[in-house]
Amino acid sequence: MAAYHQDFGGPLKDEDTDALLAYIASLRQTDLEKVVVRGSSARGAPLYAKKCASCHGQKGEGHTALSLDNPIFLATASDGYIRYAIEYGRPGTPMVGFGAKLSSGQIADLTAFIRGWSRNVDSSPVGGEDLPTPDQLILNPAGAAPRFSPLREGRYLPAKELHEALKSGARIVVLDARPPSDWIKSHIPGAYPAPYYSDGPELTTLLPRDGTWIVAYCGCPHAASGKVIDKLRAAGFVNTAVMDEGIFEWSRMKLPVTFGMSSFRCCVMVDDCGRASLLLLSQHFLGTRYGRQGVGPADVEGQMGDGLAELLRGHAVLDRPREVMSMTNR
Ligand code: HEC
Repeated sequence: MAAYHQDFGGPLKDEDTDALLAYIASLRQTDLEKVVVRGSSARGAPLYAKKCASCHGQKGEGHTALSLDNPIFLATASDGYIRYAIEYGRPGTPMVGFGAKLSSGQIADLTAFIRGWSRNVDSSPVGGEDLPTPDQLILNPAGAAPRFSPLREGRYLPAKELHEALKSGARIVVLDARPPSDWIKSHIPGAYPAPYYSDGPELTTLLPRDGTWIVAYCGCPHAASGKVIDKLRAAGFVNTAVMDEGIFEWSRMKLPVTFGMSSFRCCVMVDDCGRASLLLLSQHFLGTRYGRQGVGPADVEGQMGDGLAELLRGHAVLDRPREVMSMTNR
């Protein structure tokens, strides 16, 4: 989930997130905050390994499902909330309810075990995200126009051709159609945040109308970028394209990505095998204000790009035993 608060470049103000939270709270049927859960973490451990680790990771670091050892999650979720999630699951997701399979005591043991991952974190808000300014919109302003093959369905440009164009110094605009908090996490170098939901005239007044190629991408891989390109085409822009594969495939193809913070704080957790996983605190506050996600070990290089991997290597954290450290690149 991307962040939607204005602090992270999203469209929502404090009052909007408050209103959303109030609405979600109004759907609540049980007051979980007051539920007292008494379980044994020691009894919960083997149960967790057997029933939960395959999705949430051996140590709650997240695997196919989100992390449960997320410090902000543990600092804000009550025992009652955790217990409820285990008992009833999350309908419509792979998280099934365990209420019929486990005894009430076992669920309490699991809750105690998960609670044991709590730890202190420095959760002061992170600043320093550097969104680009409009003068950085056109890449290689003095370069020649890229030569693209005819677009698939008049619309889709292969990632490889975009990469070639950037590499050869062609004049081009690359738009990241996702919420800016996603841009902060990882983006194609030089991409300008142009979130699909913004419908102000800013972008169309800023963009060049001289036939400069404009390529948008997102993660989905076409929905958000498609919206942006439709908007530009409706506003009369020629030479526009959607990057066909989306940014996740782009990073899987090992094409360059970078992240958008000149100053950031993150937690790196290193497991017994020396794999690092990363919690970007700026994205780890609960709710719409900061977004939330479980980042698995393999994602460090894939999602964050070589810059961060470099930084991690620089801090030599990769050969230490499991630990949590807070770091900043300033
Ligand atoms: C098949 C995969 C899978 C298994 C097995 C599984 N979970 Fe989950 N779990 C998920 C997913 C996916 C979610 C997120 C659901 C959502 O979108 O809200 C989740 C959510 C949760 C949450 C809520 C987290 C939050 O941020 O609100 C808790 C707590 C949890 N699981 C605990 C457990 C425990 C304890 C077990 C073992 C008894 C377990 N899960 C087994 C997939 C799994």
